[in-house]
Amino acid sequence: MRTHRDPERLSAASNMARFQRIFAERGMPPGGMPVSDTPEPIPALETAQARIPRLYRSAVADHPQVAAWVRAIADSAEAPNVRARRQVTYGPSLLLVGRTGRGKTHAAFGAIRSLLGAGIDVRWHATTAADLYAEMRPRQGADPEWMLRRIIRVPVLILDDLGAAKSSEWTEELTYRLINQRSIHQLPTLVTSNLPIRDLRAQIGDRVASRLTGMCEQVVFTGPDRRRQDPAA
Ligand SMILES: Nc1ncnc2c1ncn2[C@@H]1O[C@H](COP(=O)(O)OP(=O)(O)OP(=O)(O)O)[C@@H](O)[C@H]1O
Ligand SMILES: [Mg+2]
Repeated sequence: MRTHRDPERLSAASNMARFQRIFAERGMPPGGMPVSDTPEPIPALETAQARIPRLYRSAVADHPQVAAWVRAIADSAEAPNVRARRQVTYGPSLLLVGRTGRGKTHAAFGAIRSLLGAGIDVRWHATTAADLYAEMRPRQGADPEWMLRRIIRVPVLILDDLGAAKSSEWTEELTYRLINQRSIHQLPTLVTSNLPIRDLRAQIGDRVASRLTGMCEQVVFTGPDRRRQDPAA
């Protein structure tokens, strides 16, 4: 079984490239097939639905690069014993960028749902960067360090709207600690932002931007603002 310390572990980018080659060998589209829900209820997915914001409860990973990520993560999942379901251990990360309403958060929750729909045991957490900073502010009765450690270690993390909150040395340091740990342990992270990496650099600092560039494949969301088209939004 591979561990975090395996010397032969592949980098996030080469891992993704390997899966792209496998898709090509199998005659699948370069982005991989979209992973959609099966008609039968999947208990883990049903349970997760309660934690998924209502707006994204039917999201699927229909963007080709996000679908490819789901397959890469599912493929590297390992069962701790023969009777257990396969769990997410490590893998590449994605930086989902685009202007407001283009479908980044939808795609991130779609990826979680698709992994669960594929029968993978996923422990996950989702937060916006702004909510994370707010929760990490020192206050009586709270243990922000414990919370940060939990988020650092969770197998799959959605870090939504990075670069949208007002930045300071404190937010930069916090973001650095989070991204640095997730990067060195190759823990799959779905980061969304309105800013491409070159503009994010000014908001989050060089050290974070450098690590994001190294660990993430960038996925650009284009098209119209879907909120302006979607009467339910
Ligand atoms: N692939 C999709 N299929 C159907 N609906 C979608 C899809 N992508 C996005 N939507 C819908 O479009 C709306 C905007 O999507 P979303 O919230 O993901 O935007 P965003 O890119 O995260 O925007 P922001 O940058 O403002 O956070 C939501 O109502 C979402 O459910
Ligand atoms: Mg969003």
